[in-house]
Amino acid sequence: MALGGTLTIDVMKIILTGIQPSGALHLGNYFGAMQPAIELQSHGQAVYFIADYHALTSITKGDDLRSYTFDLAAGFLACGLDPQRTILFRQSEVPQVHELAWLLSVVTPLGLLERATSYKDKVAQGAETNHGLFAYPVLMAADILLYNSDLVPVGKDQKQHLEIARDIAQKFNDRFGAVFKLPEPVIREATAIVPGIDGRKMSKSYGNTIPLFGDEKEIKKPVMSIKTDSTPIEQPKQIEGTVLGQLMQAVSPEKYERFKVYGAAAGIGYGDLKKDLLAAIKERFQPFQEKYRHYQAHPDEVEAVLRDGATRARELAMPVLEKARHATGLA
Ligand code: TRP
Repeated sequence: MALGGTLTIDVMKIILTGIQPSGALHLGNYFGAMQPAIELQSHGQAVYFIADYHALTSITKGDDLRSYTFDLAAGFLACGLDPQRTILFRQSEVPQVHELAWLLSVVTPLGLLERATSYKDKVAQGAETNHGLFAYPVLMAADILLYNSDLVPVGKDQKQHLEIARDIAQKFNDRFGAVFKLPEPVIREATAIVPGIDGRKMSKSYGNTIPLFGDEKEIKKPVMSIKTDSTPIEQPKQIEGTVLGQLMQAVSPEKYERFKVYGAAAGIGYGDLKKDLLAAIKERFQPFQEKYRHYQAHPDEVEAVLRDGATRARELAMPVLEKARHATGLA
């Protein structure tokens, strides 16, 4: 709505996303999911949750889930998530999402779930399949619809899950009346993905990560093992497009400009360039690391944020759930 032709007021959009806790945070998590989410928090009402229910489809130890969940919350706070503005909570602290998942599951055709590629991939990999894995997209649809989301930023791999969520919402609305808003996906392209030290996508499952909150030694080791070619010191090197170059570009776009020029010069070895990258990582992430250590030492502060987030999330969720219950004829 435009007022007097100059002032524009945007209705606060709900920006919702869920992030699975999956272990020690690394630069791939930071650049791929955390930094974009933190940037978006000033563009609407951000509602971010730690998808611990979903994580149970792959994490099998209670202690692991507990500590990964805490670390992810502490990590987000350390990297600049503002808990005053943004609603940060544990998915499992709003268990009403399961009630909605049930209401959605009765309008979800089996064929829709059978076509989900992430499920098919798991089956193809010979993973032990279970109902949770199969119903994963229904719970994800419930996450999205329960909070009346407008925008759902996710990585490319989640695009199909969002389409399924929209399909389910539409089917529910067709049967029971216009209860749900259809959310808009915001898909991050693959360019946002940082390479791991072996050149593949940085991922815990490939063992090619650089830790976000490791100590000096833990960060140095993978950086010094970044894959490079065998160009001898005295010859000019290619920096652009290499793993080393891409990492430097992500960590410090300003330094990268210089890095490209002198890195390509003859007489500079890859070892020196890796040390430069290491220094850039330190410079950029040290403030976050200090905050992270603070939260590790003060877990109550993190718990308080999560509890408050869950309270605010429930306030958003309850009217939507009531509306859905009413539409279906439940008491
Ligand atoms: N499935 C998402 C992932 O693995 C996590 C997730 C769960 C999610 N529920 C969501 C993302 C709702 C967006 C919206 O990345």
